[in-house]
This record gives sequence, C-alpha cells and structure tokens, in this order.
Amino acid sequence: MNLTLKIWRQKDANAKGKMVDYKVTDISEHMSFLEMMDVLNEQLVNTGEEPVAFDHDCREGICGMCSMYINGKPHGPDKGVTTCQLHMRMFKDGDTIVIEPFRAVAFPVIKDLVVDRSSFERIQQSGGFISVNTSGNTQDANAIPIAKEAADKAMDAATCIGCGACVAACKNASAMLFTSAKVSQYALLPQGQVEAVERVQNMVRQMDLEGFGNCTNTGACEVECPKGISLENIARMNREYLSASVKG
Ligand code: SF4
Ligand code: FES
Repeated sequence: MNLTLKIWRQKDANAKGKMVDYKVTDISEHMSFLEMMDVLNEQLVNTGEEPVAFDHDCREGICGMCSMYINGKPHGPDKGVTTCQLHMRMFKDGDTIVIEPFRAVAFPVIKDLVVDRSSFERIQQSGGFISVNTSGNTQDANAIPIAKEAADKAMDAATCIGCGACVAACKNASAMLFTSAKVSQYALLPQGQVEAVERVQNMVRQMDLEGFGNCTNTGACEVECPKGISLENIARMNREYLSASVKG
C-alpha cells in the first residue's frame, strides 16, 4: 500500500503546531499501525528529519500508552482495539490518513502526538487503592467469599488500561468512564468497602480539579473504549457518590 499521512507536528508544549503531509510506500496490510509509523520514522531519520513523537510501550493492548486520533477516532476505525492492535488491513492503497494527538484540556500536548495524561495518575492516587496489612499477616485470598457476578463485574471494570480514549471520544472531554471503572472495581468487592466513602469523594473531586468536562450521557466513551468498559460503571459511581454524600 502507498499512503499519504497528515500528521500533527508540534515541537514542544508551547510551540504552535501544524499538520504536515508525508508519503509512505510498500506498507504491508499485515503491519500494525505503529509499525507503519516506525517505517515513516525510519524514513525521516534517514533524511535527517525529526521523527514523529508518539507514545507506545507494550504494543499488545495492555499499557494504554498508544494514544492518537486516526481519522478523527481515538485508536482508529476498528472496534475494541488500541492503536498498537490496529492493522493496516483496515486501510486501502491510496488512502489519506489523518493522525492527531488526543484533544482535552486535561491532556496537554507535550510533543507531536504525545499528550500528558498524568491527570489520570493523580485521579488514581487520590483513591484508586485499598489499604491492607501485607506485613506477614496477609489473609488468604479465598477466606472472603465473593459472589461470581460481583467478581466478574469487578474484573470487567479492572480491565480499564487508562488509555484516555473515553476522554478523547467525549464532546465534553469527560473522564467519567475511566474514573467510574476505577471506583467500581473496588465498590463491588468487600475489600473496597472500608474506604468507599473517601474513595469516591476524592476521586470525583480530583477528576473535577483536573479540568475534565461533565458527563452528558452521550455514550461515545463506551463506543470507543478498547476494553468495552460499560456505562453501567458511571451509574454505579453516581450511586456511590450519592451514598457517600449522605454518609459523609
Ligand atoms: S475506560 Fe476504556 S477508554 Fe477509558 S481509559 Fe479505561 S480503557 Fe481507556
Ligand atoms: S502500546 Fe500498550 S496498549 Fe498500545
């Protein structure tokens, strides 16, 4: 395949960015999208140009690093995959592909396609944990029976990889799907009950402080989430928040 790429280039956080056109040739349909980007970068390095900066780590859908809009969609045109799992067979010879960084006030651009998602880390640090004694008196994991349905739903919520596609897909740049997944994975388990009130209050407060928008139930987050995180989690977080407000 021969392709035209229109890519957002921005030298650093303070520079003015612009779209730049590039051509790549002989791209195999079996390549992943990031491998195609590697081909472009090799080409740029060989001609003495600055390679395109983009985030990546695991390249197997686990770490959540590979954030970018591809033709206006977070992680591109395929369903239920991250950019590193997207294959070039989703495109046709002669296509023009538009590649941009995620857009959200709380995800400022650092360089080219790399955005700063440390706002997610701060939400996690504000309550995404439980306090347990691990000093040799750890309770056996099987000592607390947990209903299968609760365990399954908690595990589903815990599959959130913090990629930020939900924020990028939302017209309000809301982080409700991410935050609710992190609240839900503990809200559904007995181990999460001790700190439940502080957790939901602190995480929602931090989410608002970071500048994420409000949820208006559009549902684009659920559609674009590569891990299929359900809107059910947002409803659960709202119930947790209401209950914490009454108790707290
Ligand atoms: S909820 Fe989905 S889209 Fe949002 S950060 Fe988690 S995995 Fe990514
Ligand atoms: S590089 Fe880790 S999820 Fe894509």
